[in-house]
Amino acid sequence: MKTMKAVCIYSYGGPEVLRYEEMPRPRPQAGEVLVRVHAAGINPVDWKIREGLLHDLLHHPFPLVLGWDVSGVVESLGPDTNRLRVGDEVYSKPDITRDGAYAEFIVIKESEVALKPASIDHVHSAALPLGGLTAWQALFETAGLVAGQRVLIHAAAGGVGNIAVQLAKWKGAHVIGTASAKNHDFLRKLGVDQPVDHEKERFEDVVAPVDVVLDTIGGDTQTRSFKVLKPGGFLVSIVTSPTTELATAHGVRAKFIFTQANAGQLAEIAGVVDSGNLKAYVETILPLSAAKRAQELSQRGHTCGKLVLLVN
Ligand SMILES: NC(=O)c1ccc[n+]([C@@H]2O[C@H](COP(=O)([O-])OP(=O)(O)OC[C@H]3O[C@@H](n4cnc5c(N)ncnc54)[C@H](OP(=O)(O)O)[C@@H]3O)[C@@H](O)[C@H]2O)c1
Repeated sequence: MKTMKAVCIYSYGGPEVLRYEEMPRPRPQAGEVLVRVHAAGINPVDWKIREGLLHDLLHHPFPLVLGWDVSGVVESLGPDTNRLRVGDEVYSKPDITRDGAYAEFIVIKESEVALKPASIDHVHSAALPLGGLTAWQALFETAGLVAGQRVLIHAAAGGVGNIAVQLAKWKGAHVIGTASAKNHDFLRKLGVDQPVDHEKERFEDVVAPVDVVLDTIGGDTQTRSFKVLKPGGFLVSIVTSPTTELATAHGVRAKFIFTQANAGQLAEIAGVVDSGNLKAYVETILPLSAAKRAQELSQRGHTCGKLVLLVN
């Protein structure tokens, strides 16, 4: 039996439950492709699943390989695949209910895989799928952000935020972004028009009314965000469901979204990258064997850009 190195869990828990070990190499079934992983992006959802926080929503069997951001090369094709070829350089946010990408190989549905941006390497390409799809689905598909509108993006230096800022600027929006002062130069480099220090300022005191809020924080940040929306505006949250009462009281729309795999949108995002309008920012690169360290860093909540595991 062919094997591979992978990082998996046999039970929920802290970083200590992560095991770096030899596992059977998965085989692609109908409609699936086997991808040789070159790099895997780290996301907060990885350690949330490790801790069992999404257990009610997702029913994973153990052992479970974590990691749902990947860039690599198609190694082999299952039956009934028709779009990709062996050797294609691809990236994906695979289905989060299945084994992930902290591994030398991953099986992914062909419908979730797109050609990676040609102008960047695998490490940078692996920093884009989940954050890119989240930003795209939140700002464009859900909130309908268009040129000339004003958008407030919370945690603008983070994995989702940095991409959301760039995509909103590409669309022609005016962007306000929150981060601590140490990240304000980075925010300006991304294109943020008005950086706001969430540690020293109350954003609702310094931000003029906006059309869209991207809530990546929840709690009190979400509640206060309603105050900065124009009537008819849109609050889209990727962390907690906004209350209908608050939305109605402020005359705005509000919605929680859970990011969906989407090869078509990944292809569009690759196009934005290759046209020079979206950059992947990688804060730290670690080897696959250091997945535990990578998750500990992510869990601190102060990542600037992305953490990426270099696998091959
Ligand atoms: N619903 C979905 O499908 C979906 C999809 C993707 C992500 N998410 C969730 O969305 C959240 C953000 O994801 P991410 O990948 O962007 O996380 P991340 O990369 O870990 O975010 C880190 C950033 O958060 C900033 N930050 C921390 N506290 C803040 C505050 N109070 N106000 C403003 N910024 C703050 C930090 O900036 P400073 O160091 O400057 O404070 C840091 O740059 C996570 O909870 C994740 O699980 C959900």
